[in-house]
Amino acid sequence: MRYIRTASLKRLFSLKRHSFDEELPKECQFSAEENQATTEQFQKPTWKCFSYEEIFAATNGFFSDNMVGKGGYAEVYKGILEDGQAIAVKRLSKTANDERKEKEFLTEIGTLGHVSHPNVTSLLGCCIDNGLYLIFQFSSKGSVASLLHDEKLATMDWKTRYKIAVGTARGLHYLHKTCPRRIIHRDIKASNILLAADFEPQISDFGLAKWLPSQWSHHSIAPIEGTFGHLAPEYFMHGVVDEKTDVFAFGVFLLELVSGKKPVDGSHQSLHSWAKPILDRGDIKEVIDPRVGDDYDVIQFNRLAFAASLCIRASPIWRPTMSEVIYFASFTI
Ligand SMILES: Nc1ncnc2c1ncn2[C@@H]1O[C@H](COP(=O)(O)OP(=O)(O)O)[C@@H](O)[C@H]1O
Ligand SMILES: [Mg+2]
Repeated sequence: MRYIRTASLKRLFSLKRHSFDEELPKECQFSAEENQATTEQFQKPTWKCFSYEEIFAATNGFFSDNMVGKGGYAEVYKGILEDGQAIAVKRLSKTANDERKEKEFLTEIGTLGHVSHPNVTSLLGCCIDNGLYLIFQFSSKGSVASLLHDEKLATMDWKTRYKIAVGTARGLHYLHKTCPRRIIHRDIKASNILLAADFEPQISDFGLAKWLPSQWSHHSIAPIEGTFGHLAPEYFMHGVVDEKTDVFAFGVFLLELVSGKKPVDGSHQSLHSWAKPILDRGDIKEVIDPRVGDDYDVIQFNRLAFAASLCIRASPIWRPTMSEVIYFASFTI
């Protein structure tokens, strides 16, 4: 894998869209036919380069009270632009390994700069002065993980859970099938699904995303990255990645949504190995979050539990595609 150093980032951002692939690692490049087909479908990128002064002012100098999230490689700050728009500024942390964070930064901007869907987070731009920054539309309700597990907050009601399941399924279907290129997210989990003011879910954090050329059935990857508890068996054992890697992680995410349990909670058993025998026995009521009580739509719950049981199957060929998930769960695409 060829890494692109900070010095060449400035050159990358000055490139015209059609030559973007030339700067990407070989495995992310596409054939001439694919490029021709996809270029026609691409909308012009809408993101822009922000100045450091702009994002510094917006976040009140990266004031600690404005920090809304901290992940493995980044801190995220809330900010307000001069025109009043709320933004999230993802600042790559200074302690992370340089090559790795640059690679994640490029992966995220390279992927998100070309997608557009109501259930995928909107990239507004980036800043490459004084460090590396990604600027997003602010998702005012935070992540599904914080809303679901923060004991100080009210229990998430069933309607919201179902809406999040439907929206996330649609966003993932778009990434796999409808968007100009085939995108595998590789880190679908509750802390990477953000919520807009109306609780519409948005898939975020594309640092591990992969573009797969359409003629490849799958791709072998090392090192194995992602989040324990969400990793499909063929991925953590053999590094094999394709759409079904995301389908498995989506199944675990569905289980987390309906049960309110964390995928890994310090006990020896992961959420999926706890839920699998229960779902196989058909005792699906046992997986509903006790905090929801009886206040849920039984048909919707049965559909989600059924979809989850298919998504977490050990063999990828027995897992459904996201369009089948949407069909089984009777969502309309
Ligand atoms: N656009 C956004 N709006 C609101 N909060 C955000 C936004 N982007 C990220 N966050 C918060 O920051 C956290 C970490 O962001 P993420 O992109 O997942 O970074 P990492 O790659 O470090 O995991 C998220 O879980 C969420 O709480
Ligand atoms: Mg994250």
